[in-house]
Amino acid sequence: MAGATGAELDDMQGLLRSAFRTLPDACFAMYTLGEAAGGRRFLSRIAGRVTSAAARDVPVATQVALSATGLRAIGLPDAVVGGFSLEFQAGIAAPQRSRFLGDNLGRWTWGMPGGPRVDVLVCTYARTSEELHAEVAKVDAAAAEGGGSDAKRLETRTLSPTEPFGFLDGISDPFVPELASRAQVANPPAAQPVPLGEFVLGYRDIYGLLTQRPVLPHSVDPANLLPTVPPGTDQGNPEGGADLGRNGSYLVLRTLGQDTAGFDRYVREQASASGLDAELLAAKMVGRWRSGASLVMSPDRDRPYLADANDFGYHVDDPRGLRCPIGAHVRRANPRDSLDPSPGSAQSLAVTDRHRIMRRGRKFTDADGTAGLHFVALNANLGRQFEFVQHTWLNNPKFGDLYDDVDPLVGPRGERSVFTVPDQPLRRRFADLPDFVTTLGGAYLFLPGLRALHYLCEGLW
Ligand code: HEM
Repeated sequence: MAGATGAELDDMQGLLRSAFRTLPDACFAMYTLGEAAGGRRFLSRIAGRVTSAAARDVPVATQVALSATGLRAIGLPDAVVGGFSLEFQAGIAAPQRSRFLGDNLGRWTWGMPGGPRVDVLVCTYARTSEELHAEVAKVDAAAAEGGGSDAKRLETRTLSPTEPFGFLDGISDPFVPELASRAQVANPPAAQPVPLGEFVLGYRDIYGLLTQRPVLPHSVDPANLLPTVPPGTDQGNPEGGADLGRNGSYLVLRTLGQDTAGFDRYVREQASASGLDAELLAAKMVGRWRSGASLVMSPDRDRPYLADANDFGYHVDDPRGLRCPIGAHVRRANPRDSLDPSPGSAQSLAVTDRHRIMRRGRKFTDADGTAGLHFVALNANLGRQFEFVQHTWLNNPKFGDLYDDVDPLVGPRGERSVFTVPDQPLRRRFADLPDFVTTLGGAYLFLPGLRALHYLCEGLW
């Protein structure tokens, strides 16, 4: 099972390795399950269709994830669900989680308490919309046959390289050698590698530990469907057992509506009032030009040939944010080498690397004209990775040396909502930032390994 790197790619879902960019059409369908046996029947009808991380060049890809309510709905005992992380068990819309994330559930159109329960997410990707719809129809039929009903369907826009504000997206993701694409193997990024266990459960994380996950007694896995944890190999499970978490990951799904006209208007108005070029102001907010070129590498104008250049730090070339503002979206989302206690050092990079996420989202335009991103992030520790990035970096008014700023794209707006652009001789401050991005729904899901998915279908516990 294990490849040369020790990573069991054939037991992981493909999203861990790729955003399926060769499959431009996608649909994220969520279901509420009926009774437990029907729910498991639904899963077993689609389990064989799930694309593994070992598969290459597939015409259609299917990925399956379950929420904590979904795991309970298929009959998994509370004691086993209790082995998953607390954030996952509570769900993204639990009061303490949404307070922490700065979410206003009053704006949500799916995933909120009182709305249809999101038990299962099936993400389908295809080369054409015909192939997509044919595949989704099979999933729908399997769901109906198992007594499931539609909770929400997120259609996505045919894949294009830019997000709705018009900036190149999908550039910077953590480099995990075991999950490297063919292009990365041929031309490895200069970035320091991040351990596999930061994204995939059952492998060593950045602390050298195996992240918390449900490990069951062998007695409830009589057919040995699950990977084995040998006794004495895992500090959290000294007696070993059957690993329900291994090769799985936590998936965060959030629908982020984007006010594209409002963004352009604000940038235009503020630019003309301040004398700053509008494109430069927009780039300062993101930290990259629309082409993707980083402001650290190209501070004065867009240089599209630097579009996907990602080998840069902040400390040496731009410690005060004169090129890329301290509060720019990408600098908050991944401060690279700029954090205390010793900016510019390997230690600083190591601190940042405790809080990385893999992004796998797709953009959308709804029939009513709402555009945005169905943001997807993968990580092994929701609290230390996704939630930390959102709460402690993006939403934090005191990030870096700032005091009442917000992330100019996604930070929740307060009374003043300021964005500071360091400049000489004086910094510029842009106030009263409108809500360019509104969270419209979300869920925490478990993306199981393939053997774990088969185990869940069997109901042997
Ligand atoms: C609609 C909302 C959002 C928009 C328009 C947006 C846009 C962008 C853009 C244009 C980039 C630069 C391109 C790239 O590196 O791929 C980027 C990078 C990034 N974003 Fe966002 N983003 C949004 C929401 C979020 C959220 C909610 C998070 C995390 C909770 C996030 C985390 C990141 C990270 C980690 C990076 C990579 C930074 C780096 O490594 O340099 N983004 N985003």
